[in-house]
Amino acid sequence: MRIDVITIFPGLFEPFRTTSLLGAACRDGIVELAVHDLRDWTKDRHRTVDDTPYGGGPGMVMRPEPLVEAIEALAGPKRGEGEESRQAHVLLLSPQGRPFTQAKAQELARETHLVLVCGRYEGVDQRVIDLAVDEEVSIGDYVLAGGELPALVVIEAVTRLVPGVMGNPESADTESFQAGMLEGPQYTRPAAFRGVEVPAVLRSGDHAAIARWRAEQARERTEARRPDLLPAARGDERNER
Ligand code: ADE
Repeated sequence: MRIDVITIFPGLFEPFRTTSLLGAACRDGIVELAVHDLRDWTKDRHRTVDDTPYGGGPGMVMRPEPLVEAIEALAGPKRGEGEESRQAHVLLLSPQGRPFTQAKAQELARETHLVLVCGRYEGVDQRVIDLAVDEEVSIGDYVLAGGELPALVVIEAVTRLVPGVMGNPESADTESFQAGMLEGPQYTRPAAFRGVEVPAVLRSGDHAAIARWRAEQARERTEARRPDLLPAARGDERNER
């Protein structure tokens, strides 16, 4: 999978690009991550990427010219005349976007080329979205100073689902949200720590009993913490039968 990022803070991505699972995936050539400085597409002496909003109001808005040129240089035009649509999928990270979920991560993991556009300031000129962006995504109902951390969240959630990136692909299937529910508690050695014992069933060697216990724990935790997830999880269980 190829991922291009457009940002005014390319340095923020470097440690993530070279560390841990993503670092290994990049070194192995499974993921190709290229980070681009938006200012490289500006033409004025001050390399300006923002301007005041029409209609007034606080803050600054990201100018359309450098952003659209950067996106088109990396992804091709959104609508060609009679041409095939572009191969790349262009995402803008923004609090106005649709919520980013595990289901969206799975969908994006099937793409071969993603272009992630990091907004800053009060927002991005709407014409960038209309002319060059395929989809706006938000990582949650809170406002960050820019799309860089959200882009890293999307990169990590998506790339770990790309075949070959995770050492043990099974662990992606059982974890939280993949099954529409939260995960239950996990334990490792020692069997007793500060007087607290690991539940006996996990040490029983009875795999069916362990699976039942885990399913029960997952359901109880989901009911207590995220009851909103349960209707969809029940639908999934029915569909699997
Ligand atoms: N940029 C600022 N806040 C954001 C959020 N919650 N999600 C995605 N991009 C953002």
